[in-house]
Amino acid sequence: MRALLTTKTARRALRPVADLIDQRIERRIRQVMGGGEAGLERRVAALSNRQRPLELLLDATGRGTSRLPAQVHLTRVIDELERVTGDREGAQRNVAQAFRLLMALESLGVGRIAGGTMNICGKLSAVPLLDPPNDEVLEIGTLYGMFGAALIRMMERAGRDPRLTIVDPLAGLQLQPGTTEGDDPTGTPVRGAAVRTNLALAGAAGAAARIQQGFSGDPEIRALVGDRAYGVIIVDGDHSAAGVGADLEWAEEIVAPGGIVVLDDFGHAKWPGIKEAFEKHMAGNTRFTFLGQVANSGYLRAR
Ligand SMILES: C[S@@+](CC[C@H](N)C(=O)[O-])C[C@H]1O[C@@H](n2cnc3c(N)ncnc32)[C@H](O)[C@@H]1O
Repeated sequence: MRALLTTKTARRALRPVADLIDQRIERRIRQVMGGGEAGLERRVAALSNRQRPLELLLDATGRGTSRLPAQVHLTRVIDELERVTGDREGAQRNVAQAFRLLMALESLGVGRIAGGTMNICGKLSAVPLLDPPNDEVLEIGTLYGMFGAALIRMMERAGRDPRLTIVDPLAGLQLQPGTTEGDDPTGTPVRGAAVRTNLALAGAAGAAARIQQGFSGDPEIRALVGDRAYGVIIVDGDHSAAGVGADLEWAEEIVAPGGIVVLDDFGHAKWPGIKEAFEKHMAGNTRFTFLGQVANSGYLRAR
């Protein structure tokens, strides 16, 4: 049969049928391609135009950092949170909720939360999961106060009643010794009014937050702020080794037994002074035990 179909006569007789099949296939391809390569390009352009408004909600424009994590980043932060807190289910839930909260606050607030998306979601997730011994929270270095507002929300979601104290020079821009930080990508000056607006987004606990304008190393500020024992201390002010070392020494004095200290930008290539100060501090006499690292933050618990 095969031999019969491949004879010259058979091929000539079957050619009209083969041509008809070819034409049908070509017509179908043209339909799928929507008019050839040009048509395909038109359709891709139309699709990316439709996607652009969604990207605007999440990309780096006007805040300096993209908020579009890939699945690999989400998986890694959840694994790290599980190692530090022992609660995988809580980590998965909190990361999703923290991510939505970050989008909401940056959409509605003034300025931004500093740092990478997974580092922010990691801190917002870890603090309530680590079950601090009381609800007093101290943030050293707040920039726009938006992280403090977000942390209030995450603590309340865990059934806590957070009371936030903030220390920051609120100097118009981010102050960092040894570096020249330019204008913020948001275009918004760092000032008390911005911090208040953002804290107001966190309801009654945000409005009740104490803001101490000044430097964490200033004895007057220390006397005012050191009036209580804190369940949580976020160290995110002066990022130099000397600055972080001084904040860690102060934290030893004002953290409650069982309290949590978060060292922001821990292991970040741009801020080597943070790990340097941590290593020096941990080599001495300390109440702190290192719990581990999630994204770019280190977690300590006080005895
Ligand atoms: C990285 S930003 C804080 C970001 C904020 N925690 C967040 O998550 O969005 C650092 C802030 O600390 C402030 N700062 C610098 N030196 C400080 C100091 N000695 N005491 C308190 N704040 C300081 C900076 O001006 C800046 O506002």
